This record gives sequence, structure tokens and C-alpha cells, in this order.
Amino acid sequence: MHVFYIYFRAWFLIYGLQLSNAPGNMELDCECRSVKCISPNAFTTFSQIADVTLDPMTNQAWLQLSDDHKKVQEDQTEANLPFSPQRFDSLPCVLGWEGYMSGRHYWEVEFANNGYWKVGVTTASSKRHGRFPMNPSTGYWVLWRSTRQFFACTNPETTLPLLLVPQKMGIYIDYEEGQISFYNAENKSHIYTFTGHFREKLYPFFALLDGRGVITIWSPKEHSRF
Ligand SMILES: *[C@@H]1O[C@H](CO)[C@@H](O)[C@H](O)[C@H]1NC(C)=O
Repeated sequence: MHVFYIYFRAWFLIYGLQLSNAPGNMELDCECRSVKCISPNAFTTFSQIADVTLDPMTNQAWLQLSDDHKKVQEDQTEANLPFSPQRFDSLPCVLGWEGYMSGRHYWEVEFANNGYWKVGVTTASSKRHGRFPMNPSTGYWVLWRSTRQFFACTNPETTLPLLLVPQKMGIYIDYEEGQISFYNAENKSHIYTFTGHFREKLYPFFALLDGRGVITIWSPKEHSRF
């Protein structure tokens, strides 16, 4: 709670003025943290910054996690990892360790080396094995940065402007509202929002689609640098 409040206060001082002039924004009010998030641009409602770490029982064997489980990149060799039914066996994916079954949660990731990726959330029971399409009907709510395009993985895909590809992305879920939103974490602008009804635990989801990509999760501690 406190970490969030400090983060928000600092953020408000930096961006608040600028955003309050943006069309479609809710009123920005530091005290109004319990107001429901109507506009995806309204950063006022983020009640919880999630301390996301990667789950070493889920990563596909070519994905190497850092010792602190905050960073993932592709390895030169396939690792010999313990069997786990939660582990992706074909697609180059990894999940966050903690799942969420209520409340609001926000985390940020940084992409290095202009790699290609998919990032979002998935459910506890969605498919992990083989190759399969990822969209809300298979339990995946993700954005996809591919070689030449940027998509929201709806069915069919929703093309997003390449200009919106962020260096650092914020992912926000509001479980009860059925909202999953993606932001440019540097200037806090909205990229895309999925809406739906969730009945299962939701886990942060990350995929690296080429050899050069690196995804780093930012922890709440680092937010205090604002
Ligand atoms: C934020 O950055 C993105 C990507 O550079 C840009 O497309 C967008 O217009 C920016 N938004 C604001 C509010 O500055």
C-alpha cells in the first residue's frame, strides 16, 4: 500500500498535470484511489504494485531465468529441467510465480535488444503443451510484438500501431472488473485493454520469440526511483 502510494504521488507530480489535460481522462485525484477504473488511462486506481517473480517450474527449457527470477532470456543450450505439468514444452514461455484470483495488480516489464515477445496473463488451467493459438478463448490475454507488427491477440488479431511498442510496459489487472490493460510504462499512455470474466487464477505470462530478446521485471523497490 505504502509503496504504491509513494509511487503514485511521485508519478502524479511528474505526469499528473500533463495527463489531466488529455481527453477522456478521469479526474486525477490523489485521495480517490478506490474509485473504479473506468478509463484505462486512469492510473489513479492502481491499488497494488505486484512483486512479480518468474516461476522456475514453468519455463520452457530454452529460456534461462536469472538467479533472482526477475529476468528471462534465451539460452544457447536446452536446459535439463525437472518435469512439471505447468512447464511449457514447446512454446518459449514462462509464467509469474504468484497468481491472482481477486483484486487489482500492476507490474512492469522492460524489453531489451528490440526482441520479439508476447506478454500478458493466462489462467491456471490453460494449455501449456504443444503449439496452440493464444487468445482469450484459450485462456491467454496477451500483446504480441512480432517481426513487423504489433498485435493484441484477440481472435482474429487486432493490429496495433508499431509506434505503440513500448520499451517498458505496464500490465494491470482488475480481477472483479474483468479488465486487463497494457500501458507504456514510460509515459503512462494506454496501449490496449481486454475485458472479460475471469473464474480462475490469473498468472503473469511472458514469451521470448527470438534469440536476442531479454525481458526484465521491475520490482516495486525500483519504482521509488521516481
Ligand atoms: C507515449 O509514447 C508512445 C510511444 O513512443 C507514443 O506513441 C505516445 O503518443 C506517447 N503518449 C504520450 C501521452 O506522450
